[in-house]
Amino acid sequence: MSGKNVTEVRLADAAGIAKAARILESGGLVAVPTETVYGLAARADSAEAVARIYAAKGRPDFNPLIVHVRDVAQAERYAELSDVARALAAAHWPGPLTLVLPRRTDAGLAAAVTAGLPTVALRAPAHPVMQALLEQVDFPLAAPSANRSGFISPTCASHVLASLDGRIDMVLDGGPTTAGVESTIVAVRADGSIEELRPGPLVLGAQAPGGGAGSRIEAPGQLASHYAPGKPVRLGALEAGPDEFLIGFGAVEGDCTLSAGGNLEEAAAQLYACLHEAARAPHSRIAVAPVPEEGVGRAINDRLRRAAA
Ligand code: TXA
Ligand code: MG
Repeated sequence: MSGKNVTEVRLADAAGIAKAARILESGGLVAVPTETVYGLAARADSAEAVARIYAAKGRPDFNPLIVHVRDVAQAERYAELSDVARALAAAHWPGPLTLVLPRRTDAGLAAAVTAGLPTVALRAPAHPVMQALLEQVDFPLAAPSANRSGFISPTCASHVLASLDGRIDMVLDGGPTTAGVESTIVAVRADGSIEELRPGPLVLGAQAPGGGAGSRIEAPGQLASHYAPGKPVRLGALEAGPDEFLIGFGAVEGDCTLSAGGNLEEAAAQLYACLHEAARAPHSRIAVAPVPEEGVGRAINDRLRRAAA
C-alpha cells in the first residue's frame, strides 16, 4: 500500500478505546485484541463499513464474518437461540466460542456479513479491550482475524501491521493475546444437534458429535491453504533439514519453540508468533515438530496443516 494512508497505533487505554469507538461509529476499521487473535473490527450494521473489511483483507466475498456481541441479550437481536444455544452461551460466554445460529430476518446486519447465508456466527469475546469497545458502541462488531486473507493470523499489534499497515485506520495495542488460536466454531442445528465447524481453544469433546480428528470442516472460510507463511512447510519434523527454520515442541528444540515443556495451551499461544518469526527468517523452508492431536492440539494441527497446504 502507498504511504498515503496512515494506520494509527494506539495503546488500548481509555483514551485509545474512546478514539477507536469514534472511528468505528463513522464506518472505519480498527484492529482490536481479543483473547484469541486480533480482530479487524467494523460496525456490522453498515454495508459500507463491512465492505471495507473485505477490501482491506482481500477476502473473498463468499466467506462470512463473525459478529461480536456483548452478551446473550445482544445476541438475541440477531439470531434465533434455541435452548441448546442458550445453554452453550451460558456455559462458555464470554469466551472463545462462536455459535453459528439461524439469523433473524429482522437482524439489520449488512448482507455481506453473512455472505448470503441464512445463519449468522456470533461470539461474545472475553478480552477486556474488546468488551470495553462493545460497551461504548450501540452496534455489534464484525471482526475477522486482522490479517490479509490467507496469511498468518495476528497475536500482537506488530503482526497486524505486518500485513495491514496503511490499509486500516487504527490498531489498538493491547499486548499479546492469550489463547493464541481462533475461537472454536460450533453450529447449532434446528434439531438441537451441534457440530464443530472449526477446532479452537474451547474443547467441547463428547458434546460435539462433529468433532474429533479428521472431522469435516464446513465453515466456508476454512480453505485448505490458509495461514500461509509464504514458504514450504514440513510437518512432523524431528530435526531441521538443510535451510529449514525449525519450530520445536517438547523434546524437539527449535529455532523457535512452541512449548519446551510440551504444554499445549502454551503452544497455542505461541503458534502464530513462531510462524511469523519463521516467515521473516532468512531460511527458505519451515519444519515443525509433531504436536499431539489432543485438546487444543487439534486446533494447532488444523492451522499447521493449512499453513503447509
Ligand atoms: O477467534 C476468532 O474467531 C477471531 C476473533 C477476531 O474473534 N475471528 C476469526 O474470524 O477467526 P475469521 O474471519 O478469521 O474466521 C471466521 C470463520 C470463517 O471460517 C468463516 O467462514 C466462518 O467463521 N463463518 C462465519 N460465519 C459463518 C456462518 N454463518 N456459517 C459457517 N461459518 C461461518
Ligand atoms: Mg482468519
